[in-house]
Amino acid sequence: MQPLHIKTPLLESHPLSKIVGCPVYLKLENIQPVSSFKLRGLGHLCQKAVQNGCKHIVCSSGGNAGLAAAYSARKLNVPCTIIVPSTTPAFMVKRLEEEKAKVIVHGDVWNDADALAQELCKDPEYTYIPPFDHPDIWEGVASLVHEAVEDLQGTKPSVVAVCVGGGGLLCGILQGLHDVGWQDVPVVAMETEGANCLNASLNENRIVKLDGITSIAKCLGSTQVARRAFQWTKEHNIISDLCTDVDALNACLRFADDHRMLVEPGCGATLASVYNNMYDKWSKEGKLNSDIKSILVVVCGGNMVSLEQLQIWKKQLGMS
Ligand SMILES: Cc1ncc(COP(=O)(O)O)c(C=O)c1O
Repeated sequence: MQPLHIKTPLLESHPLSKIVGCPVYLKLENIQPVSSFKLRGLGHLCQKAVQNGCKHIVCSSGGNAGLAAAYSARKLNVPCTIIVPSTTPAFMVKRLEEEKAKVIVHGDVWNDADALAQELCKDPEYTYIPPFDHPDIWEGVASLVHEAVEDLQGTKPSVVAVCVGGGGLLCGILQGLHDVGWQDVPVVAMETEGANCLNASLNENRIVKLDGITSIAKCLGSTQVARRAFQWTKEHNIISDLCTDVDALNACLRFADDHRMLVEPGCGATLASVYNNMYDKWSKEGKLNSDIKSILVVVCGGNMVSLEQLQIWKKQLGMS
């Protein structure tokens, strides 16, 4: 069966390479049909669910995962219900409806919406689609690494950079690296301060539940990381680090100028690792080899960004 995601281009970035002094390759997931890498995982999960008899897809994300689920359901000719909290922006509700999803606005926070989704899925006609914590999602995301092997003609990057919300992207990338024999490639796992569930868990060596999300990087706003993502930190060289919202937003703004593409601040966190040359710091700290030959950056994308929204965040963060 044909996947629902597209094979994305891998671009060698001249401006980013200049900053770190080695080739920086961008895997452009922002140009997936629903503007984020989420389609790889959610598309694969929905496809498998439908193959196994799923008749109605239910998801509780008003963000990129929900949109990927709605798009997948439309492509698979299966009805779809997306339950979202009242904080979901109107343009996302409209976008979900354009994908033919039935949108139910329920409760003020995601937990309320999710509780209704779970309730609905007690009916065997409905299938619950989680946003990040499922092996089929990780398998779908792993396809990105398989493509990168082809794009780079088998030349291993020295390091791969991703961001972490609930850890679906991280788990998928790690699975892909192990699938293709690149298990010795370190992975940078970026989060913003205030959306730092992986970093906080590593500091305490247990899975920590954050009280709330204070970062503007809402797509990284899971209060808890998937158990598998935490386990991976024991099995692979993962460099977990944080940047501020200002760093993430600055990276989005510079990336827009450098490559004329808009991405969400969550994606900005990954890009900030390059714009702030954190690789130099990690090499000095001994976390990375000092001889970095190339960096593969996953440009995860996202829909919750616009020229206007970038200006609003700039003001909110006191940036001139
Ligand atoms: C654009 C974007 N990037 C990154 C993430 C983080 O992914 P994950 O929750 O799989 O860690 C998300 C999550 O929704 C997202 O929408």
